[in-house]
Amino acid sequence: MSAWPRSIPPLELTALYRDKVNKTVYLGPTEFPDPTLSEPRAHVIQVCAVALTHGELDWPTTHDRPIPGYEYSGYVVSAPAHSPFTPGLQVYGHTSFDCLGNARPYTLALFQELCIQPTHLSWEQCANVPLGALTAFQALFDHGLLERPAHTDHWTPINKRCLPESNLQKLTLITGASGEVGAWAVQLAARAGAGHIVATCPASDVPFVRSLAAAHEVLDEAAEGNLERWARSKFHIVLDCVGGATLRAAWRVVHAEGRIISVATPAICEKPPRGVSPGVTTGWFIVTAAQNELELIATLLNYGLLRAPLDGDNVFDMEDYERALERLRSGSRGKVVLRVNMRDPRPVIELLKEYGSIESDNDWLADGADDDMDDGDDDDDSDLDDLVLDGEEEEEEEQMGAATGLQPPPPPPPPPPAVLERVEPPERMDQGNPLAIPIHTVGVDQ
Ligand SMILES: NC(=O)c1ccc[n+]([C@@H]2O[C@H](COP(=O)([O-])OP(=O)(O)OC[C@H]3O[C@@H](n4cnc5c(N)ncnc54)[C@H](OP(=O)(O)O)[C@@H]3O)[C@@H](O)[C@H]2O)c1
Repeated sequence: MSAWPRSIPPLELTALYRDKVNKTVYLGPTEFPDPTLSEPRAHVIQVCAVALTHGELDWPTTHDRPIPGYEYSGYVVSAPAHSPFTPGLQVYGHTSFDCLGNARPYTLALFQELCIQPTHLSWEQCANVPLGALTAFQALFDHGLLERPAHTDHWTPINKRCLPESNLQKLTLITGASGEVGAWAVQLAARAGAGHIVATCPASDVPFVRSLAAAHEVLDEAAEGNLERWARSKFHIVLDCVGGATLRAAWRVVHAEGRIISVATPAICEKPPRGVSPGVTTGWFIVTAAQNELELIATLLNYGLLRAPLDGDNVFDMEDYERALERLRSGSRGKVVLRVNMRDPRPVIELLKEYGSIESDNDWLADGADDDMDDGDDDDDSDLDDLVLDGEEEEEEEQMGAATGLQPPPPPPPPPPAVLERVEPPERMDQGNPLAIPIHTVGVDQ
């Protein structure tokens, strides 16, 4: 990492840490620049929102002071040479479970781990998308039996005849359809033209799943006999997002040549001892960051072909993390989204401008982009090389100022606040037409 200008003290910021022993979290100090942000292939991201997943505080980790939250939305602050994700872009993504998480003001994202965020979603909605949507996408199209439509345009309802023929023949069962993964899976399967989609969920969630207007049938999973009547026709594809008894039941209704993909527990763990056709195949996987998939998901969201449900009750300021965790633990499922630094979305940029390292917003963006594209010389340069002056350059500037007797220029006027097109998070039980593009309300993130 290049030197932070000596005249600028490191920023003292606050991150959310996980106590591995007590399984609690706490706010603790962190600095920017931060030695953990020195990976030269990574983008430095200023985090605006981060999502925490149910159960993640119990996940094993090798880090001494782990930071939770593996999906984020925010600004690119600096980028490696030749990255198309230049400073200032608004991005979202899912970062590796092996690395520190994103509940901190600045984080790192490798190329695969970021993507331009959907245009009409709030920071909080964007942060809530990647993990659930990518898991559903990969389950259906990378590990399942559905064929991914060849072109983005083919996902649109008017192009139904372009949908893969084979998908139209597929009877598909998705369990846990009201959950983070299930709700995306039902929508993606429908947009890809799955022939007949049956979704199951607890009775209380049936209206929500119906509101997605994606499944052909939504069943109360607990109601006796609801699935049994499928025991004859059989599903070509089962995507199980629940595990346990639900997964066991799935084995009874899968087609003799069908496929069970499960994300909660490997399907094989719940295989009945007898009565299963040898032609049934199974799949289980851990979701991985995939930029092209996230890009497609963003496009489908922009077209209004997917809906990104986020219950407003699940959004908290990071400082309010205790209430957020209470919420996360009180249910058996779901996620919470934390707003990070919303009151001052670009402090580093402001600081550098104040110290004359950057002249204006536009200059900064243009310079960042140029530097990134032109600076092909060394991989050893840190991410921040393009953004900050190093100590020597700065000293040179100070000396030049002293020699000429020139005063540093006055700080430029404050830039207009970052403006995002955003929609209020829809109510979880909203019955609106999901294919209608949401009404945009232009808001200012403060
Ligand atoms: N392999 C991977 O890479 C990967 C990635 C993401 C998630 N996961 C795992 O996949 C599972 C689902 O994730 P998620 O984020 O979707 O979890 P989630 O948001 O907690 O959703 C689980 C859903 O299943 C519903 N449900 C509970 N019991 C049910 C039943 N008997 N029948 C039908 N639905 C039932 C829940 O409803 P109620 O809450 O109303 O009961 C909830 O809506 C979790 O175990 C998660 O850890 C794995």
